[in-house]
Amino acid sequence: MKPVISSTGLWTPTDAISNDELVLAFNAYVDLWNSENATAIEAGEKQALDHSNAEFIEKASGIKSRFVISKAPILDPTIMSPIIPKRDNNEISILAEIAAKAAQDALKNAGRKAEDVDAVIVACSNLQRAYPAIAIEVQQALGATGFAFDMNVACSSATFGIETARGLIMAGQAKSVLVCNPEICSAHLNFKDRDSHFIFGDVATATLVESDDIAPKAHWEIIGSKLVTEFSNNIRNNFGFLNRLAKDEVADESLESKGLTDKLFVQNGRSVFKEVVPMVAQLITDEMQKNGLDSTQIKRLWLHQANLSMNILISKKVMGKDVDISQAPVVLDEYANTSSAGSIIAFHKHSSDFEKDDIGLICSFGAGYSAGVIFIKKCA
Ligand code: COA
Repeated sequence: MKPVISSTGLWTPTDAISNDELVLAFNAYVDLWNSENATAIEAGEKQALDHSNAEFIEKASGIKSRFVISKAPILDPTIMSPIIPKRDNNEISILAEIAAKAAQDALKNAGRKAEDVDAVIVACSNLQRAYPAIAIEVQQALGATGFAFDMNVACSSATFGIETARGLIMAGQAKSVLVCNPEICSAHLNFKDRDSHFIFGDVATATLVESDDIAPKAHWEIIGSKLVTEFSNNIRNNFGFLNRLAKDEVADESLESKGLTDKLFVQNGRSVFKEVVPMVAQLITDEMQKNGLDSTQIKRLWLHQANLSMNILISKKVMGKDVDISQAPVVLDEYANTSSAGSIIAFHKHSSDFEKDDIGLICSFGAGYSAGVIFIKKCA
């Protein structure tokens, strides 16, 4: 049982929001809030909110646009969040629905029937509910067999999911495992927070990991991998099942209006940048050494998509020279940060030119901190 990557799949929402559209809505919200709070601001009891800026966003992050599943309410200054209607328990949940769409694309790309899949993992940053597992719903929607479960390793969920699938195949538990990364990141984003309102987008990806004896001929051999975690408070989301029990906090409605909610994504972006770049560069170079690979053998780096400058720096450290954009492809300009899906989108969209024996690496990093690297070689 040698686990390999058979294919990937992608589902992208139809609606996108440009930086200009996002900033226009944010600034309208700020003007509204400042005028509603004019007296308190004047008296020095509240601080006026500042406008956002599209040039800053692109310069600081590389992000130009993001896809979202619910555009209009995000851009409504009186709402400033997606609206996703509740579905009946008998309907498929939205997270399972988009995961299944990406999974169907991966199955099509491998020429695989859903009934041949014997495990489904949903690995993502935000799970819609505690249970039953979203993955079991995806298993049912696809008509897959075997078993299914959810896991969350934030932005690193894809590589940790692929490694989990690999372990299941080696242990003889399954032969064909779908790892799905449905990310509705707009729902954990505080669109009223100037520091982070531009960061995320929505998408779903899927990776089909299979035993090589059933995989299509043109699969990807996994030639090395490493996972690492190191605790940090610099990226946090305190949403959880105990929230409603902290009575004082629940009653404090001013928290969200001040943009201070910690039940959504919060980060110290500068520190993340400084700490994660060396951590990831070290992880990749150590693993290259361990596998007897030098940088000239690496054709492409499919990196997590959070910040363009971070990816330029990591690539430079790993390759020992400035790296052309074609060698470390960027999708965050169009998709923004899509958490666990980012490196898989880059791999999915920028790997069709690989020939037999070409080597590349998929690398994820994010909250936890968590990071994972997987070296792959094209087999035909
Ligand atoms: N519009 C205009 N100005 C803004 C702004 C906005 N939307 N947001 C922040 N600013 C201002 C700040 O107030 C600050 O002003 P000051 O210098 O007068 O204090 C200045 O811009 C710089 O802010 P800072 O937060 O330090 O920006 P940055 O250069 O660190 O860029 C990120 C912010 C988030 C783009 C960047 O830190 C990042 O991407 N870090 C990595 C994050 C990451 O990978 N996270 C993983 C998540 S999974």
